[in-house]
Amino acid sequence: MQTMKLSNGIAIPSVGYGTWQSPDSEITVAGVKAAVSCGYRHIDAAAIYGNEVSVGKGIAACGIPREDLFITSKVWNADRGYDQTLAAFEKTLSDLGLDYLDLYLIHWPAASHRFKNWEEINLSTWQAMTELYKAGKIRAIGVSNFKPHHLASLMKTEVMPQVNQIEFHPGFLQEDTVRFCRENGILVEAWSPLGTGKMLSNPVLQEISRHYGKSAAQLCIRWCLQHDALPLPKSVTPSRIQENIDVFDFEISAADMKSIDLMDNFGGSGLDPDKVPF
Ligand code: A2P
Repeated sequence: MQTMKLSNGIAIPSVGYGTWQSPDSEITVAGVKAAVSCGYRHIDAAAIYGNEVSVGKGIAACGIPREDLFITSKVWNADRGYDQTLAAFEKTLSDLGLDYLDLYLIHWPAASHRFKNWEEINLSTWQAMTELYKAGKIRAIGVSNFKPHHLASLMKTEVMPQVNQIEFHPGFLQEDTVRFCRENGILVEAWSPLGTGKMLSNPVLQEISRHYGKSAAQLCIRWCLQHDALPLPKSVTPSRIQENIDVFDFEISAADMKSIDLMDNFGGSGLDPDKVPF
């Protein structure tokens, strides 16, 4: 598995195994085990997914030493703030059955449509994450779904975010956020790189993928990589889990990258951090 590098020098495996919408059941235990046996070494979890116990069982049973895996989780919106974040972190560690995380993210920014003191809230969550990082309980810290104006106040703190995990797939490029992250040494991770599967029936993507002898899913994942965004495809289906990591033996041409970049906005979740009701 190839790796990318975070601004603090840590290597992060270039494709992660997504677990959003995976059930808290044997299906997810088996999915994690299948992913590791296919070669994934990076698992993306979150407290709000409600399945960290199953993800943890899969990790425990996968037969790979903990230090060879890269495990991410995220603090949910209900746990924003200093004390709540520390408690949420302990709960996540316990659910996953781990004693440290590789990466911990603020799942969504507190934003002005819901909180007058939204910057203060994000800073107090960040303070707790910074302390956990400095104590060695997390190897890297970052955010998710932050736009540049949410990121601005965190950029002035002692430890800068190393990752921003955002929705990113053909038809939804979030150029301003990606540019800001790039200029500030923040790695962009792509959630729903397949548009939760909605990309896969698109005729343009299907046509381009055929030229490379690849599936539309593989094309989307490779397209993320060529944008230096780290894809986190989710699947609980063994053949798809395998397919989604088989993306290192082809290169999308500049012309095809451009055609995909220019596709109309489609297949997005419609979740705008400045509007979401949670
Ligand atoms: P499943 O988990 O049942 O295999 P995203 O990562 O963009 O959120 O997309 C996840 C969705 O896409 C899930 O419904 C998943 O289904 C489906 N999916 C994942 N990989 C593939 C693939 N290679 N081919 C077809 N569908 C896929």
